[in-house]
Amino acid sequence: MRAEDFDFLCRVVRERSGLQLTRDKAYLLESRLLPVARRLGAKSLEEFIDSVRRQGDPERLRIITEAMTTNETLFFRDTKPFEQFKRVVLPALLQGRAAQRTIRIWCAASSSGQEPYSLAMTIKEEGARLAGWRFEVLATDLSQEMVDRARAGTYSQFEVQRGLPIQLLMKYFRQVDERWQLDDAIRSMVQYRVFNLLDDPRPLGTFDIVFCRNVLIYFDQPTKAQVLERIAKLMPRDGILYLGGAETVLGITDRFEPMPNERGIYRPAQKVASALGAAS
Ligand SMILES: C[S@@+](CC[C@H](N)C(=O)[O-])C[C@H]1O[C@@H](n2cnc3c(N)ncnc32)[C@H](O)[C@@H]1O
Repeated sequence: MRAEDFDFLCRVVRERSGLQLTRDKAYLLESRLLPVARRLGAKSLEEFIDSVRRQGDPERLRIITEAMTTNETLFFRDTKPFEQFKRVVLPALLQGRAAQRTIRIWCAASSSGQEPYSLAMTIKEEGARLAGWRFEVLATDLSQEMVDRARAGTYSQFEVQRGLPIQLLMKYFRQVDERWQLDDAIRSMVQYRVFNLLDDPRPLGTFDIVFCRNVLIYFDQPTKAQVLERIAKLMPRDGILYLGGAETVLGITDRFEPMPNERGIYRPAQKVASALGAAS
C-alpha cells in the first residue's frame, strides 16, 4: 500500500473512531478494505482510495472506519465479570436502589451482542430475587453492522460454543437451520443503538453500571481519558465501571478508582465524586 494512502486511511479511521492504526497494521488495512473496494465497484484498492480522497463521501468514510474495527467478542467473556456482577455488584445496588427499584446498565461497545445478552441472561437467571425490579440495558456500538447483528440475536454454532454454558443455550436459544436464535424474552431486555464513544454520551442518560470492555485498548491516552471522564459524569457515586482484562484507569484518569479486592471493576473516585457532585 502506498505510504500516503496508509496515512490518509489512518487519519480517517482515527478521526472518526479514535482507533489507532500503526504501520504494522498495513496488511490488515489492505485485507479488510480490498473486499470493500471490490463490493463498491472499484478495480483496485488504489482506485478506491483515490476516489474516496477526491469525493470525501461520508458513507464511504463510514464503511472504511467500520471495516477497521475489531469486533472480537464472546458470551460471558472472561467469566469473572459476570460472577462479580452476581456476587458484588448486584447485592450492593439492590440495597442502594431499594426505593427506586430500577437499575440502568450501559454496554458501551457491545459488538455483536454477546456481552449485553450475557448480562441479560444473568439477570433473568436471578429470577424471584429480582421480582419487582426494572433493569434497563442499553447496548451501543460504533458499527451499524454490529448493532444490526446484535439486535437480530442469531448466532452461529461456533459463536454459541464460545463461553455460553450448555444449559443456557438449551434454555434461551432455539435452533433455526444452521443458526441459533435467542429468545425474545432475553432479546427484549436489551435496547440497541449506534453510538460513537468519541461523542458526548449525556443524551443517553445516567447509568448505575457501565461495561466499557476491550475498546479503550484501541485508543490513545488522551482519548481514553476523555471517554472515561465523560462516563464518570453519567454515574452515581456507587456506580460500577467494568473494563477489559488488559485495561485500567490507573495512570489515565483520577475520576475512577479500583474496587478494593475486585480486579477489573472500578467505582467513581469517592473524593472526586463528592467534590464534583456525581450523577444521581
Ligand atoms: C473487541 S470489541 C469488544 C466487545 C465487547 N465489549 C467485549 O468485550 O467482548 C470492540 C468493539 O468496539 C467498537 N468500537 C470501536 N471504536 C468505537 C467507538 N469509537 N465508539 C463505539 N464503539 C467502538 C467496535 O465496533 C467493536 O465492536
